[in-house]
Amino acid sequence: MHTVNKTSSYFIELEEKHGAHNYHPLPVVLEKGKGVFVWDVEGKKYYDFLSAYSAVNQGHSHPKIVDALVNQAQKLALTSRAFYNANLGEYEKKITELFGFDKVLPMNSGAEAVETAVKLARKWSYEVKGISQNAAKIVVCENNFHGRTTTIVSFSNDPDANNNYGPFTPGFIKIPYNNLKALEETLANDSENIAAFLVEPIQGEAGVYVPDEGFLKSASELCKKHNVLFIADEVQTGIARTGKLIACHHENVQPDILILGKALSGGMYPVSAVLANDEIMNVIHPGQHGSTFGGNPIACAVAVAALDVVEEEKLSERAEELGQLFRNEIEKLIEKTDLITGVRGKGLLNAILINDTPESKTAWNLCLVLRDNGLLAKPTHGNIIRLAPPLVITEEQILDCVAIIEKTVLEFKRN
Ligand SMILES: Cc1ncc(COP(=O)(O)O)c(C=O)c1O
Repeated sequence: MHTVNKTSSYFIELEEKHGAHNYHPLPVVLEKGKGVFVWDVEGKKYYDFLSAYSAVNQGHSHPKIVDALVNQAQKLALTSRAFYNANLGEYEKKITELFGFDKVLPMNSGAEAVETAVKLARKWSYEVKGISQNAAKIVVCENNFHGRTTTIVSFSNDPDANNNYGPFTPGFIKIPYNNLKALEETLANDSENIAAFLVEPIQGEAGVYVPDEGFLKSASELCKKHNVLFIADEVQTGIARTGKLIACHHENVQPDILILGKALSGGMYPVSAVLANDEIMNVIHPGQHGSTFGGNPIACAVAVAALDVVEEEKLSERAEELGQLFRNEIEKLIEKTDLITGVRGKGLLNAILINDTPESKTAWNLCLVLRDNGLLAKPTHGNIIRLAPPLVITEEQILDCVAIIEKTVLEFKRN
């Protein structure tokens, strides 16, 4: 049911007036979601091709995840970690067995989980590797996106992310993404002071940059050789999005530290996690890290249900198969237009490249027309449009969406 008498412009004006302007949303006001669809307050239906930045892999309001949330909320929501609760252990068993690690540390947002991984790697490097106090460095990649905390933006090279937020946290070395030579040289130069290499297996926010085949495997081997932890930030790429449970599995890589978030809850609740084996995770003792909400009963019940859905509905296999189909269809469209210069991605994490400068409004304007034609997507970094539907989408729906994209692109008039 949609809200009577309150239009999109009413809600947009409210946000403009009373909310901080830290986002620039596409003008559409959503009030309902089901599976691959969302509805605006006027009742118009859209395909969701963003999936809340890949948090809603299991589809909007998945009944199994909704049930888990509602039932647990009615029973017990929050205990804090001052006491044990009857959900955390079972969730921990499930997630560690599924991803193949000894232990998990539960947090809430993706950024918190990245912070946790940074702290864990530093602590391991002092207590196990033997780096001298405060000398530990973590290698990161240019154009990374790992979240918005002060430490994380300290190693961003996006001026919007870090301008005027200094002073910054030291201890990070930036190298180009997908550059094994740079990694090899950096590790060889200073391996005794390097704790970890932190990497996104595909750079999502930067514009869905897929590294060369073999990059992750070789990078993880270089890390092993230098006793440096390989940390995979799979907040966006994990939980079946790219056609495997985690993107590292495409190259049979098991990271030393795995960071998950977003779709770990099917988008129902903020749930993130850091996974590692005992020799790393056991450096953290009571009182040394934590979060009031991390590992709360609702989060655990929701995450167990969300992971069950991934397995039961074979979401990895679907993403792999439908992703291939989608890219093939878009390749055919590229033959017919000069507006799109390429499509890239893995599984159902894809992007199309718009034939204009990053500063131009072309991609934004195209997204406005896609919206009018019933499909929601948003540009990332100007001239790149990420296309990432919920993984429960069917083949018929994918083809329907390709038809919407084709019609929009072929009829599009540049300003
Ligand atoms: C790779 C990656 N890491 C971390 C984050 C931060 O997650 P959150 O927004 O939940 O803090 C994101 C969010 O887009 C992400 O894509």
